[in-house]
Amino acid sequence: MTHFLDIDKTDAAALRGMIDSARAMKTARGGRPKGTRDDAQPLAGRMVALIFEKPSTRTRVSFDVGVRQMGGETMVLSGKEMQLGHGETIADTARVLSRYVDLIMIRTFEEATLLEMAEHATVPVINGLTNRTHPCQIMADVMTYEEHRGPIAGKKVVWAGDGNNVCASWLHGAGQFGFDFTFTGPPTLDPEPEFIRYARDKGRRVTVERDPVLAVQGADLVVTDTWVSMHDPESARERRHNQLRPYQVTEALMAQTKPDALFMHCLPAHRNDEVTSAVMDGPHSVVFDEAENRLHAQKAVMRWCLGL
Ligand code: CP
Ligand code: NVA
Repeated sequence: MTHFLDIDKTDAAALRGMIDSARAMKTARGGRPKGTRDDAQPLAGRMVALIFEKPSTRTRVSFDVGVRQMGGETMVLSGKEMQLGHGETIADTARVLSRYVDLIMIRTFEEATLLEMAEHATVPVINGLTNRTHPCQIMADVMTYEEHRGPIAGKKVVWAGDGNNVCASWLHGAGQFGFDFTFTGPPTLDPEPEFIRYARDKGRRVTVERDPVLAVQGADLVVTDTWVSMHDPESARERRHNQLRPYQVTEALMAQTKPDALFMHCLPAHRNDEVTSAVMDGPHSVVFDEAENRLHAQKAVMRWCLGL
């Protein structure tokens, strides 16, 4: 079964193939209206279940539109409305859904839920974000970087803020796509050591630098994300804001990077918390291309999963 569970669990050549395929599909559409189908219809006759146990705008809409552009059909399911939210096991849910649909995308809390779904499904399963990782995001982000600046291999990517699920997938990306990675944030919010170790074991330079100004020297790309993720307790909000304030991405911080550095954010952004509006809307920012590329990258991921 060809699941897309994480960047580190997917062959590097396959990841590269998906980025190429995403770019080719984007080019082939040539900016046609979003509701029109692609010329190629690889998902014709296929049904895709999109399960959300957490809120989503981009993942939900980009998967749904992507499937339809490729000729398939979707059903969007909320965990709460399914028996999943009322005591049915993940394993049984996976077995049942596999009798109805050709592909399952799930956004959930615990990584264990995703892994159990994948273990028991007899159709491919895609990780649409867990508390630990967000691999679809990094596929879109690598695609976006390369569209603007060419190969990401050998570049310096700096993550500012919380060492969260998106940061973890960036570290996987460093390992698989071959770029250097610097984390800058408070020690209590460091990425899990396992993710840092993964990238280092792949021979990448991974640096932890507490001073954001030093961290972004020579950066080709600066990335940040919300200071409070969907799985974080509300009670942590104030403390996190206080700890993370020095890591806000500002125009002054971006002025310390390479002149042609890009700025990314997976969105949703909290303007003037983790990033100022001036940076979001400024010359370094590619955040809306990044959001668009979720669509193209995930179409490639789905085709890869289905071997189409
Ligand atoms: N970036 C991202 O996954 O956005 P959503 O939470 O809106 O899906
Ligand atoms: N780190 C964020 C990403 C949202 C797309 C969260 O998990 O809430």
